[in-house]
Order: sequence, then structure tokens, then C-alpha cells
Amino acid sequence: MNVQNVSHSADATTVEEGLAAQNLTTPVDSEMATAVAMRNTLLTPRFYTTDFDELDAIDVSSVRADWDELIAEMKADPNKGHFKKNEDWDTVDWDGMEPKLKAEFIDFLISSCTAEFSGCVLYKEMKRRGANEDITTLFQLMARDEARHAGFINDALREAGIAVNLGFLTQAKKYTYFRPKFIYYATYLSEKIGYARYITIFRHLEQNPDKRFHPIFKWFEEWCNDEFRHGEAFALLMKTDPKLTQGVNKLWIKFFLTAVYSTMSVRDHQRPAFHEALGVDPDWYAYEVFKKTSEISEQVFPLTLDIDHPRWQPNLNRLQAANVQIAEGKEQGGLGGKLKEIGGSMKAGWAFLSLLTIPSKPNEVPVETRLEPAY
Ligand SMILES: [Fe+2]
Ligand SMILES: [Fe+2]
Repeated sequence: MNVQNVSHSADATTVEEGLAAQNLTTPVDSEMATAVAMRNTLLTPRFYTTDFDELDAIDVSSVRADWDELIAEMKADPNKGHFKKNEDWDTVDWDGMEPKLKAEFIDFLISSCTAEFSGCVLYKEMKRRGANEDITTLFQLMARDEARHAGFINDALREAGIAVNLGFLTQAKKYTYFRPKFIYYATYLSEKIGYARYITIFRHLEQNPDKRFHPIFKWFEEWCNDEFRHGEAFALLMKTDPKLTQGVNKLWIKFFLTAVYSTMSVRDHQRPAFHEALGVDPDWYAYEVFKKTSEISEQVFPLTLDIDHPRWQPNLNRLQAANVQIAEGKEQGGLGGKLKEIGGSMKAGWAFLSLLTIPSKPNEVPVETRLEPAY
């Protein structure tokens, strides 16, 4: 393929161009950042691979009208050129930033960059392996967007003297295999929860501009509209096969909802200074994000989680405390540390099971799937 040279991933029209752009290929690396991005724990972003042939066999004709409209919107490319610094990019005082905030914020940027890039790699691979034009077109467009997102976060990190070596990650990071249906559930959710997370922060900072301690938050609105569209695509893909949301698959959907929600809550609690600087209470934030994501997911999932159930919040708290205990055990080391870690893991397992067994709320999936971002 003929890859044109663009100097910035924001201006790329294909994922190949985006990945070849200067801001993604400049050989800056900091071992610390790449090491952080390489971590594989339950809480860190992973790289995925799947059965690409099965994915390629999808027939979208049952959702053709909605599909074509969505693809046309993505091809029209409303965000071309958007994801780069402009006059709205305020100078960031990295040296003056409170050290704890700085550390947590950098951790946030690195893990966001890894997550964006993980989407990019999966979508690009799907595009490369596929032969079904509907599917390859969609995945090319989504990979393009994720390359821009990752490139933009890398720009922000570079200002702090940090860059994640994305080429190295592609080669060296472990890939987790998921069957296509699990990719749909997990990726649909991560796109929609990504939308809900970004828009909640964006709206909050519109009300409280003094809490916007970094300019990247100004880009969150258009950013989350990309994620919203990606989520729409997965909703349509799931609509092509009713079996994906019936029978035993309802349990899988519940499992993924519970896993994604609880992971987010635990991970966010690991960044108290970051949330304090934003003026956001992590419990409030999690509840807002879950509420929005649940409402949106009614477009395709036959159930939602009961986040007002009396067992919900206490067990999220338990899960979080267990996670702290595991981290302390690891830090402590030795036999005592190991025991502490095992105890923490058991507590986490129980808390998760308790969350998972909360009765879910059935949902009548509407005939019309498509939604517009409304928050
Ligand atoms: Fe993204
Ligand atoms: Fe996305």
C-alpha cells in the first residue's frame, strides 16, 4: 500500500498514515513509560487477538441502512485534523505540578494511550486480515481514529519528557485471545464506557473550568464522539445475530458488564490525587459513568446491572480494599507479603462473586438500534 507521509497522526486519513506520522515514530522512548504500558494485570489495558475469519464472515445486510449511514458519517471524518495541539493548548507547568498528581496523571495518560493503541492494533489487524468489504472498511476507519487518539496522548506525554514506544509494544506485549463474541461485548462496552467517562469529565470541567489542570481535557468532547460511533458499530454488529444476546450469552453479557464496571471503579480509586485535582469524587464519577453506559447499552443488551442494589456499592468498596491489600502484599514481599496477597485475592474473588450474583434488570431491546451522543 502506498502510505503518504503526513507529519501528524491527526491529519492521517488511514491508520497506516497515522502510524507512520512523525509524532508517532519519533524515536523518543522512556523505559519507565514503556514498562508501565507493558504491565499485564487485571487492571491494565491489554492487547487482544481473535478469530478474524469468523469476524470476517459477518453479514451486515440485516442492518444495512443504519450501517451505511454510520460508515458514511465516519468517512465524512468530522474529526480530521482535530487531535493535535492548537492555540487552545495551554502551557503545562509539569515542573510545578504537585508530584503525586503528576505521577497519577502520567499513569493515567500512559494507560489511556495503551488502551487507545490496543484498539488501534486490534482494528488494524482485522482490517488487514479481512476480505469482507463492510468489515474491513469499518475497521480501517476505527483504527484510523484510535491511531489519532494514541498519537495525541503521546504528544501530551512528550511534553513531560515521556513517550511510550508503541512499535515495541506491538511486538512485545502479550496478546490475549478472545472469541469474537467476547470481543463484541468487551469492545462495545469499552467504547461506550469510554464515551461516558470522557463526556462526564468534559461536562464537569465546563462547569468548573478552574479544575482543568491540563489542556487535553478540552479535546474530550469530539474525542468521545469518536468512541460513541465505534460503540455504535459494535451494537450493529451484535444486532446482526440475535443469538449473541440470548440464552447463555446473557450471562456472559452480565459477566462483562460487572467486570468492566468493577475494574473501572477499582482503577480510578488508585488515582486519588488526579480525581481531587479535577474536583471529582470517584464514587460519584463511577456512578455517573455506569448510569450513562447502562442507559446507552439498552440499545443492544437484554439486561442492565442494578447499580442501586444494596449489595452493589459495598462490594465495590470491598473489591477496592482487597486490591489495596494485594498491592501491599506485593510491596511487602516474603512469606507475610505472599499471604497478604493471597488473602486479598480471595477477598476480591468473593466481592466480585457477590457483585455478579446481584439480580440484573431485564431490558426489552428496541427495534431501532442507532443512538446519538446525548449527554
Ligand atoms: Fe479512542
Ligand atoms: Fe474507540
